[in-house]
Amino acid sequence: MSRILVTGGLGFIGSHTVVELQSSGYNVVIIDNLSNSKIEVLDNIESITGKRPDYYNIDLKSKEKVQHFFQQQKIDGIIHFAASKAVGESVEQPLKYYENNITTLVYILQEMKKHQLTNFIFSSSCTVYGQADELPITEKAPIKPAESPYGNTKQIGEEIIKESCIADNLAAIALRYFNPIGAHNSAKIGELPLGVPQNLIPYVTQTAVGIRKELSVFGGDYPTQDGTAIRDYIHVVDLAKAHIAALERLLKNNNKTEFEVFNVGTGKGSSVLEVIQAFEKVSNTKLNYKIVERREGDITAAYADTNLANEELGWKAEKTIEEALASAWKWQMEQ
Ligand code: WQD
Repeated sequence: MSRILVTGGLGFIGSHTVVELQSSGYNVVIIDNLSNSKIEVLDNIESITGKRPDYYNIDLKSKEKVQHFFQQQKIDGIIHFAASKAVGESVEQPLKYYENNITTLVYILQEMKKHQLTNFIFSSSCTVYGQADELPITEKAPIKPAESPYGNTKQIGEEIIKESCIADNLAAIALRYFNPIGAHNSAKIGELPLGVPQNLIPYVTQTAVGIRKELSVFGGDYPTQDGTAIRDYIHVVDLAKAHIAALERLLKNNNKTEFEVFNVGTGKGSSVLEVIQAFEKVSNTKLNYKIVERREGDITAAYADTNLANEELGWKAEKTIEEALASAWKWQMEQ
């Protein structure tokens, strides 16, 4: 069976993808430097799948260590999650983001070229679309100037990969994630935000258990049906499965061009107030929240047109936002 390298495989989306890979029969080797994850996740993956993935604590910023890894290991495909992802932090420390997200990408692609490896899946983001002119957003929507260094690393990352595909005989798929939420059904793996959560769902669940006093809803005056901003929240397990579909497309040479891009969302937009209502229903709690000023850099609405992924990858999000919120709540209660 194929052996797949998952960088950042102990992180939120990475760990769920490792579980789906193992469940589909793949052998997995993880590289993770624990910069935003915990080593216990390895045990938790093992307790879900019954199989411990190979694991290396390697910092991908070390070119020598990356070279050494690829000399030693036989790899059939790479799913590259390892990256920094805090939008606000990226504005304060842009160089950290270019080093963590771009330098490391270049090192990996160099090794792929050297060892004639071809199959590469990249974690991209719907953030590349900015506020799209048309909804739902198709892959043909123009890339807007990035709102943050983080967003810029995703745009530049896609370009680097595309150019390398053309020049170096690489085959790659970039998956543009909408808003991943939720946790594994077992509640053994989930999102582990460091410090005060920036994203909506961890803030909601932490407020509901009393770690945070009150949720601030950023903006009640957006031009939407209830005045709050709209996003496409996708269950992380559905998102993980999209990676398996993309990987299989490459392994079977079913890709139509050397570099392909797919939106990964549900196709359904939910406002912040709708999320709160759904959460209150599934958790049977009353959430303490207040509508405040808009958050700088936020857009009004984004949700995916998922037709391309449905048709080409044969993949579709299956879980509802209620299921995703219930799993996030179960995970929070376990913590
Ligand atoms: C969702 C909605 C907020 C927190 C960001 C990145 C994107 C991505 C996912 C990452 C918005 C509102 C939030 C709160 C709130 N990629 N909100 N109160 O901003 O859509 O996307 O995360 O790796 O690149 O930009 O996600 O979860 O922060 O916000 O009202 O305390 O919830 O304004 O409308 P966002 P989010």
